[in-house]
Amino acid sequence: MCFLFPFSLFLFKTNVKKQRTKNTKHKTMNIKETKIAVIGLGYVGLPLAVEFAKKYPVIGFDIKKPRIDELEKGHDSTKEVEDENLQGVLLKDNPILVNNGQKGLYLTYGKLDIQDCNVYIVTVPTPIDKNKKPDLTPLVKSSETVGSVLRKGDVVIYESTVYPGATEEDCVPVLEKVSGLKMNKDFTWATPPSALTRAIRRTPSLPLKR
Ligand SMILES: NC(=O)c1ccc[n+]([C@@H]2O[C@H](COP(=O)([O-])OP(=O)(O)OC[C@H]3O[C@@H](n4cnc5c(N)ncnc54)[C@H](O)[C@@H]3O)[C@@H](O)[C@H]2O)c1
Repeated sequence: MCFLFPFSLFLFKTNVKKQRTKNTKHKTMNIKETKIAVIGLGYVGLPLAVEFAKKYPVIGFDIKKPRIDELEKGHDSTKEVEDENLQGVLLKDNPILVNNGQKGLYLTYGKLDIQDCNVYIVTVPTPIDKNKKPDLTPLVKSSETVGSVLRKGDVVIYESTVYPGATEEDCVPVLEKVSGLKMNKDFTWATPPSALTRAIRRTPSLPLKR
């Protein structure tokens, strides 16, 4: 986990910089105006959300209400984040809607709460079946969620483990279809190499497109 946060931050800064230099047609993103949504608050998403919340306004979104209820009480049953650490960043109100971008973590299972974010980090599960075939349903569903609130200039980062080509072929088209926006022209996306490496280790028989 320790390498995940710095890599995401690096990717995110790189993308913001690229957008500033290459894509002048739409609104450029000021790093000080960063508003992050973490989609999926499990082993990967929660620690990421907590670390980013120490510097930025972060909305932690999960479809499971019991998970949100538990975290709102300041307790992480997975023990990935110490309760004290979690409690130190929790906010009672959505910082983007009511507190003018105050840093901290607001938890929700309501899609409307993420609509004003500009960086979306997807950390939903990518289970494999007994034949080691990946099930991309959570990724497709979360791409629909992000696509429905995506705006020009936004950045989408997929931290979930995916085989090479999956993000571009299965997720980005969903973002484009639901949002009506075009990748690289209107929004930027990224997948860390670590996510691809894990997928290759997990499913060595996959036909890989590079
Ligand atoms: N990037 C990395 O360094 C790294 C490291 C380890 C694992 N991973 C990958 O990250 C992904 C997540 O792993 P995990 O262990 O955190 O999974 P997890 O099962 O612990 O948590 C996933 C969370 O996503 C939520 N979720 C499912 N569908 C959703 C949706 N449509 N919208 C919002 N939330 C949704 C679930 O309720 C759950 O709380 C996996 O693909 C895993 O392989 C990445």
